[in-house]
Amino acid sequence: MSELAILGGPKTRTEPYPAWPVWDDSDVEAVTEVIKSGNWGGYPYPGAQTAEFARRFAELQGGGYAVPMANGTVTMEVALRAAGIGWGDEVIVPAYTFQATAAAPMAAGAIPIIVDIDPNTYCIDPKAIDRAITPKTKAIIPVHLGAEMADMDAVMTIADKNHLIVLEDCAHAHGAKWRERGAGTIGHFGSFSLQSSKTLTSGEGGVLLCRTSELAAKVASIIDCGRSHPDGGSESGTDFLMGANYRMTELQAALANIGIERFPEQAKQREEMAAYMDEALSEIPGVRLLKRDPRHTTRSFYRYIFAMDPKVFGFEHDAMCAALDAEGMDCWVGYEAMHHYTLFQPGLSKLAVPSAFPQYFQFDRMHLAEAERACEHEAVWLDESIFRAGRKGVDDAVTAIKKIQRNAGQLSQQVEELRKKYGML
Ligand SMILES: Cc1ncc(COP(=O)(O)O)c(C=O)c1O
Repeated sequence: MSELAILGGPKTRTEPYPAWPVWDDSDVEAVTEVIKSGNWGGYPYPGAQTAEFARRFAELQGGGYAVPMANGTVTMEVALRAAGIGWGDEVIVPAYTFQATAAAPMAAGAIPIIVDIDPNTYCIDPKAIDRAITPKTKAIIPVHLGAEMADMDAVMTIADKNHLIVLEDCAHAHGAKWRERGAGTIGHFGSFSLQSSKTLTSGEGGVLLCRTSELAAKVASIIDCGRSHPDGGSESGTDFLMGANYRMTELQAALANIGIERFPEQAKQREEMAAYMDEALSEIPGVRLLKRDPRHTTRSFYRYIFAMDPKVFGFEHDAMCAALDAEGMDCWVGYEAMHHYTLFQPGLSKLAVPSAFPQYFQFDRMHLAEAERACEHEAVWLDESIFRAGRKGVDDAVTAIKKIQRNAGQLSQQVEELRKKYGML
């Protein structure tokens, strides 16, 4: 019998990793209190819970003016709108990210310009940003992916030189710091998701950090149906800006306020365990760790991503993930390269931006070598729950990866068979 669980052998870890989100009676009490108050929603904005969360979140990241809202996609749409970016403007985004990073500019009427990533971090490549700048470029959205941060020194230098807005997509970067500055406080805006998989969650939700109180007031106005907010709102202060209801509810904010109390302890544990994991994984042939940049002074771990070399293993990341899943580790191959997403194809959708500017969406002619290599062949995303299971959690994951490495030859011979059996690995 094989040693590998995917080939019928024993599982490395039989007990499940700890569930997410973490909750206890304090969450139940917080939500119950909001229910009893009768003020469940987000109007008038901000409610007491929402205002409290805004204050605490800016404190956690160490700066900015926080505006909580419905999710971590509209955060980016309204940031661009508040900065006056819209129809036909170009916004540079990395090819390796969730679709929201490109969908948000389109919702604001802007065109996402998809550029390649740095293979060492899987975040946006500053050289690719430089090459993509045109007179129409108005903003850059660097994404801090998994547990990495984009090179914010290089991004800010390029942005300052070209008078561009920087909107950091920090959906994965709660608590992260670059040169001791909180993610989301370096650019003009920092967008955070509080969706249920994120390391700080209110079920659904988002929060936007703004560099100035004027921008924050404008953002608050846009997400509150255009109502005037101090320093923001309409020019006259009497009629409405064009806005919509993207408010955070008090029920969401109550959960976020409890979650943020737990966050520092959880983040510390993830960071310690990830350092332990780095050491163990760096000894495994064919495994490449992403760069540990000394300027990235606090790492956060939404997902732990490493690169595997298909030539060394004899199979690609989908087989590695299927094998790890079978061993009892939650594992994922990660996002598709953005230019391979079909949803932005003008021929397939009637979305306004791709329909109006089809020349930008000829993705079949686009070749982004590093993003394609990462997304299609080598990236392996491990769940953060591994770190919440302490040293034993990490030891089990490392044991499983070593076991797969030891039996790589056998697995590589079975990959086609497994593909047929499971459809997709
Ligand atoms: C990189 C990135 N940006 C943005 C988002 C969007 O966040 P939300 O689901 O809260 O809209 C996500 C969510 O997964 C994400 O991973």
